[in-house]
Amino acid sequence: MSCKFKSASIEVMAPSNIAWTKYWGKKDLQKGINASLSMPLKNCSTKSKVEFSFGESASKGPEVSLIFEGENKSDFLPKINTFFERAKELYPFIGELKSVRITSENTFPHSSGIASSASAFAALALAMEEVMAKIESSDLCIERASSAARLGSGSACRSFHAGFTLWGLLNGRGSEEHGVKIEKVESSFEKIYDAICIVSSKEKAVGSSAGHALMENHPYKEARIAQANENTKALLKWLDEGNIEKAGEVLEEEALALHGLMATSRPSYILMRPETLAIIEKVQEFRRDRSAQVYFTLDAGPNPHIIYFESSKEIVESELLPTLEELCENGRIIMDQKGDGARIIESFFEESL
Ligand code: PMV
Repeated sequence: MSCKFKSASIEVMAPSNIAWTKYWGKKDLQKGINASLSMPLKNCSTKSKVEFSFGESASKGPEVSLIFEGENKSDFLPKINTFFERAKELYPFIGELKSVRITSENTFPHSSGIASSASAFAALALAMEEVMAKIESSDLCIERASSAARLGSGSACRSFHAGFTLWGLLNGRGSEEHGVKIEKVESSFEKIYDAICIVSSKEKAVGSSAGHALMENHPYKEARIAQANENTKALLKWLDEGNIEKAGEVLEEEALALHGLMATSRPSYILMRPETLAIIEKVQEFRRDRSAQVYFTLDAGPNPHIIYFESSKEIVESELLPTLEELCENGRIIMDQKGDGARIIESFFEESL
């Protein structure tokens, strides 16, 4: 293949996502050991401009640079270089790239403890897909973009669709390679709110990659795979039937199972903080006392996501959230809701002479 372009500049936007059933543990080339289901966030996203320059590529791959929020970030480069190496099969034009310059920013506050690798790799993969589609004169292939994003960060493959996305194979439904959009949910699941309580914005003591690796020899590994797959199947049913209480039960069980796996791995570790538990108790108490449709979840960190529905929006926001502020770092709660998938903002191609 010899590329007809000299350069390309693609601007993209991709959301972060929060898992309702959790991906924890990898197999093969960054596939989950179990199925997971998530929703994209509306306000927490990454906006990137990716500038590709074609020409003779060095044997170690294209020269990559990353400017993140105005600063040169060389510490992320090894992960990005690995991504380019892995994505070559899907995007052979990588072999014809001289350089790639990524200029990126997050819409969520700096150092908020919210992981940005999902949104960042989804954005980068979509930019690559735009180039590939132009080379092939074809439509965008979102499955391919999602499969590529997975090679950078597993959960990134779930950031391509509006609404709920399944990753993993369950009774012939879904795919281990890429995220699959859940086309229909009952109307009460169309609008969902997420208030993210920032208990700590400090870097985690044990990162996700190390956590996934500890699942390899985890004594509960097989039981966890069965639990997550059963929970994902059940959740799909509750989304379809509109059963908020049952879906909330699964959501909370999955958050605690994830942190339970951390606490029982070797070496064991704890990412929750005392404030995390205090917030969890307040949410459960409020739900009981006020019959509110409000639940919590956690990703691999200490910051609870408070998930609530239209029917309880007013009381949660006016009565519950103010009581959680004092448990958050500088009273910080990020208000978000279920959002849309990754999209291209603008693209520009310069043809070779
Ligand atoms: O995509 P990674 O490698 O950052 O792993 C994410 C894992 C969790 O956020 C804890 C769960 C999930 O399914 O998103």
